[in-house]
Amino acid sequence: MAGFNAVVLAAGQGTRMKSALPKVLHPVGGLPLVAHVVKAAADAGAEACSVIVPPDAKGFDALRLPIAARFFEQHERLGTAHAVLQARPALETSSLPVVVLCGDTPLVTPDSLARLAAAIANGADMAVMGFNARNPKGYGRLITDASGALVAIREDKDASEAERAITLCNSGILAFRGDLILSLLDRIGNDNAQREYYLTDAVEVARARGLRVACEIIDEDEVRGVNTRAQLAEAEAIFQRRARDAAMAGGATLIAPDTVTFAHDTIIGQDVVIEPNVIFAAGVVIEDGVTIRGFSHLEGARVGRGSTIGPFARFRPGTVLEAGVHVGNFVELKASHVGEGAKVNHLSYIGDANIGAKTNIGAGTITCNYDGYSKFKTNIGAGAFIGSNSSLVAPVTIGDGAYIGSGSIISEDVPPHALALTRAPQVHKDEWAKRKRARHEATKAAAKDEK
Ligand code: UD1
Ligand code: CA
Repeated sequence: MAGFNAVVLAAGQGTRMKSALPKVLHPVGGLPLVAHVVKAAADAGAEACSVIVPPDAKGFDALRLPIAARFFEQHERLGTAHAVLQARPALETSSLPVVVLCGDTPLVTPDSLARLAAAIANGADMAVMGFNARNPKGYGRLITDASGALVAIREDKDASEAERAITLCNSGILAFRGDLILSLLDRIGNDNAQREYYLTDAVEVARARGLRVACEIIDEDEVRGVNTRAQLAEAEAIFQRRARDAAMAGGATLIAPDTVTFAHDTIIGQDVVIEPNVIFAAGVVIEDGVTIRGFSHLEGARVGRGSTIGPFARFRPGTVLEAGVHVGNFVELKASHVGEGAKVNHLSYIGDANIGAKTNIGAGTITCNYDGYSKFKTNIGAGAFIGSNSSLVAPVTIGDGAYIGSGSIISEDVPPHALALTRAPQVHKDEWAKRKRARHEATKAAAKDEK
């Protein structure tokens, strides 16, 4: 794989999104659009990237990208060539090929980008990624000569009637030899319908210098741009379809794939069964042989080999299950470690806790981990038994093999193998209910007599 530098154009304001958030920071699969593009570039061999952003945009600093990134503001929107030139400080100091991408096309694949970069590695001075448009309106058209060689790109607004009939269009992804890009772009003017410095004019500049311009073709779906919330939803749908296909190709059974939602980084093992209506938010790893029953919601969690969870399980960040754990319905886990073979089967909240191997957590057990100010830890040893409807008031430690009587409120440490219970002793009042009923009947009869 040939290394290259990526330049990602993201200076568009995205006003049609009607959002306080810059367009390219809207997420697909839980990852901002621009991060999808950078990730694809990184997977295709990019070593570093420059991102061209609007002036004073917020939120770019917090982006977590897989390769080194520099951000350059474009203060005036003078066109795509002008946008790329904002990265001059980065482009001057490297001679690696440069691939220019748009920050709003999250579906582009590493394979396609690698193909374009390879065109430069194989001797082209510049390369354009074209696609056959179902509806070419608005796109730059690829103008070819009799031999099929690319001679120019004509923007829609500058095109003649005949040129507009061409359906082979510019995807907006272009590659350049690193030692040539600045000299090509510096020669581009703005004598056109939009008074913009068009990156696409680099084709004619290169041809005039006798340089080799290559052309590769990409599937239109990969270069779908996101300009509206509706297009964001379409991109999400394609992303989800790809993620479901990948999970199934990797050996997972999805009973109703269309109802399962993945995040950009979800990892699913082999022989995993995912029932309908399961949502994976970011940071989830599912090991082999796990069954996830319907309507479970997982985020920032690792589920160990052979575990069964749900239906209606909720895992919040920091949840780690060792192998063979059972988590049942209406159980919420947060920042907790559950040992091998442990069971939390019904209606529990377990937060900031350690649960030892083979421990059984009874129905309705709650860790009281928060006093309104701070969070505290609950440590439960191995082989313990927590009776149903217990409240474990953290910080508290329950020893290995200890037994908690149902309905207890445990606020002090319990030694290993001890029984702890805090509920009031049960009392019986003989015949009390019978006497109460008799009294009630008598009052009712007296009231009737008075009428
Ligand atoms: C551009 C291409 C066109 C191609 C189309 C594919 C040019 C001149 N035209 O047209 O051939 O078919 O993309 O979608 O390159 N941008 C900046 N700063 C600017 C201008 C644009 O950062 O000054 C960014 C935009 O945010 C966007 C990208 O560059 O991400 C493309 O710009 P846009 O204005 O959408 O170009 P198009 O007219 O769609
Ligand atoms: Ca566009």
